[in-house]
Amino acid sequence: MPLVPIDSLTTSSEIITGLSAAQASISPKYFYDAAGSALFEQITQLPEYYLTRTERAIMATHADTLALRIAPGATVIEAGAGSCEKARTLCATIRPHCFVGVDIAADFLQRAVAGLRREFPSLDVRSVVADLMDEIVLPVDLPPGRRLVFYPGSSIGNFAPDAALGLLRRMRRLTEADGALLIGVDLVKSKAILEAAYDDAAGVTAAFNLNVLRHVNRLLTADFDVAHWRHRSFFNEEQSRIEMHLEARCATRVSWPTGCRSFHRAERIHTENSYKYRVADFAELLRRAGFARQVCWTDAQQWFAVFLAEP
Ligand SMILES: C[S@@+](CC[C@H](N)C(=O)[O-])C[C@H]1O[C@@H](n2cnc3c(N)ncnc32)[C@H](O)[C@@H]1O
Repeated sequence: MPLVPIDSLTTSSEIITGLSAAQASISPKYFYDAAGSALFEQITQLPEYYLTRTERAIMATHADTLALRIAPGATVIEAGAGSCEKARTLCATIRPHCFVGVDIAADFLQRAVAGLRREFPSLDVRSVVADLMDEIVLPVDLPPGRRLVFYPGSSIGNFAPDAALGLLRRMRRLTEADGALLIGVDLVKSKAILEAAYDDAAGVTAAFNLNVLRHVNRLLTADFDVAHWRHRSFFNEEQSRIEMHLEARCATRVSWPTGCRSFHRAERIHTENSYKYRVADFAELLRRAGFARQVCWTDAQQWFAVFLAEP
C-alpha cells in the first residue's frame, strides 16, 4: 500500500507546484513516510515538546467527566490517528463500540489499528486512508449511535485559520446531529518555550524536518541532497504561528523527471506552520464551524487546551 494514498499524478503536481513557487513550500502532510512517522513518535517524548504530555494530563484530569458526557457504545473517529496512542487511553476511558482511525500515512495507520484490535478485542476497529484536506468519507456500514470526532495533538494548528475552519466544518458534518468533537489546541505562550519545542537540543525535530526531502525524492523521483539543507524554525508573532523551514546551506539544485529548481545559499523551503491560539479565538472558530456548546479544559499554566464541542 502506498504511504501517501493520493494518486501519484496529483501528488507530483502538488509537490512540483510548491517547489516551483517564488517562496518554495512542501506540504507538512509529506512528513509522514515510515521514517517521518517514527520520528514524530520520538518528538512526542522530548523534554522540550510539552504538547503531548500536557494534553495527556488534561485528558487524565477530566477523564471521569468525559466518560459521563460520552456514554459507552459511541463511535470514535480519530483524524490524523498516527500511532493511535491517544486512542488507547480514550477507548479505555469512554468504552466506544467502534473506532475509526483516519490518516494519510497508510502503512503506519494499518499497524497502529492492528495493535488497537489486539488490545481491545471487542472493539470494532476500522481504518480510513484519507487526506483531511478533502471531504472525509466514512465506511457506509458504521454502527448507528453517537459519534465522537477526536482530533488531538493540536494538529489543527497545521492549517491556516480559514483552512482550519473548513476542516472543523467537515468534522461538524461527521458528528451528525448529536455527536461531539474532542480537540486539542496549543495555546500562545512565551516565545522561548514555543521555539524550544520545535528545535530540540537532540536534533530530532531537525531530522524530522529534513526527512521530508527523502520522502519527496521517492514520491517525485527527485534528487534533493539532504546534506545541503538545515532545519530552521521560529515563532512568527504577527501570524501567531511556529514556522518550520529548510534552509539551503549552499547554492544547490533539485531535479525531477519533468523539471528542476535552483536555490541560492540561505534560500528556504517552507515546510510547516503550527498556529497557536488564544482560548477565546479558538472557541469562536468552533462556534463558526457549528459547534455552539463547548467545554474547555486547560492545564494550570494555560499552555494547552482540550475542547469538547457539540452542535
Ligand atoms: C502530528 S501527528 C499527530 C498524531 C497523533 N494524533 C497525536 O496527536 O500524537 C499528525 C498525524 O496526522 C497525519 N496527517 C498529517 N496530515 C494529514 C492529512 N492532510 N490528512 C490525513 N492525515 C494527515 C499524519 O500522518 C500523522 O499521523
